[in-house]
Amino acid sequence: MGGLPFAYLNRDRRLVVNVWQGPMEDLENLRSELTAAVNAADNLSTLDEIRISALGKKGQITAMMKSLGGLDPEQRKQTGQSLNMLKGEVAQVIEARKSALEDASLNSRLMHEKIDVTLPVRPEQDGRIHPISQTVDEVIAILGGMGMTVHEGPNIEDDWHNFTALNIPLDHPARQEHDTFYLPGAVEDRKVLRTHTSPVQIRTMLTSEPPIRIIVPGRTYRCDYDATHSPMFHQIEGLWIDETTHMGHLKGCLIEFCRAFFGVEDLPVRFRPSYFPFTEPSAEVDIGCIRDGGELRIGHGDDWLEILGCGMVNPKVLENCNIDSTKFQGFAFGIGIERLAMLKYGISDLRTFYETDLRWLRHYGFSTLDVPSLVGGLNR
Ligand code: DAH
Repeated sequence: MGGLPFAYLNRDRRLVVNVWQGPMEDLENLRSELTAAVNAADNLSTLDEIRISALGKKGQITAMMKSLGGLDPEQRKQTGQSLNMLKGEVAQVIEARKSALEDASLNSRLMHEKIDVTLPVRPEQDGRIHPISQTVDEVIAILGGMGMTVHEGPNIEDDWHNFTALNIPLDHPARQEHDTFYLPGAVEDRKVLRTHTSPVQIRTMLTSEPPIRIIVPGRTYRCDYDATHSPMFHQIEGLWIDETTHMGHLKGCLIEFCRAFFGVEDLPVRFRPSYFPFTEPSAEVDIGCIRDGGELRIGHGDDWLEILGCGMVNPKVLENCNIDSTKFQGFAFGIGIERLAMLKYGISDLRTFYETDLRWLRHYGFSTLDVPSLVGGLNR
């Protein structure tokens, strides 16, 4: 029988290709070579290299298996059995070494790594909560605490929900084409980017029975653009309908809201008669402030600042939503989020909210851990 090629790892773990002369002794050699190499391996990747060079597709033992065909039947049987045994043994030695190395690495990590639980929370580099989101969350925390739940509605509204059902007559300025964004279509059924969150009042009253206690945060749109107006802005609508709800509830709710939001316990709040088609009577709410040169501070002072609109829901609006206005009544209000955020956080130009300037956001934004809650506090 001519010599068969075989390969093994020498002491330097170099693959040596040799000619297989006497099978049995060579297998013995290979066994001790491999076992020594495996036990000398001091990390998992070296161990894996040895495994591949012995048992992998092109490994030595695999190559020897393939060359069995060249032996005579008796020798093939014997050598085949020995090779199989060797293969199993080598696999076992490798497995044992692998778990020993893994244990050792875990133990050394346990010995050396320490967690210092007294370290402060790592400051967050990425991701700040936008002041608009933060303000919306603050308003929800306060009004949610009074039992109002969050509802939403579509940004693309139809004329009826946005105007007609809210008792906004055809000649109301908000309907004029140049005043807002209409989508193409016939006048009777044209769509409009909602000009306020009030249409969600209508949608809620049409689909649920009183008592109704909702707040509606969302985007709104109008054709305006200057330091205090943007074509897209945010509002929160409030609606509270029940059998005995009256103006006293409206006042109590909004006075409490203003004081909690601005964090001024005795903040002066004034209700000034006003007009909205969907409320009767209607009022605008002013809070006390001090104007000191260019600076404005919220609190006791000799000046007033308008912050929201409100009123008792017009019975016509209730009837438009099939709610019996002789039995139910309630109040509604609409708050501009940008305005609240600007006042509370000292932001002077509304347009900066949407400029996506990261430096601005790092300055005015909030930590993701700073979740507003009545218990945790709303005021930084
Ligand atoms: N929808 C009004 C606006 O955008 C705000 C408003 C005022 C909403 C009075 C109300 C309300 O619900 O009662 O100007």
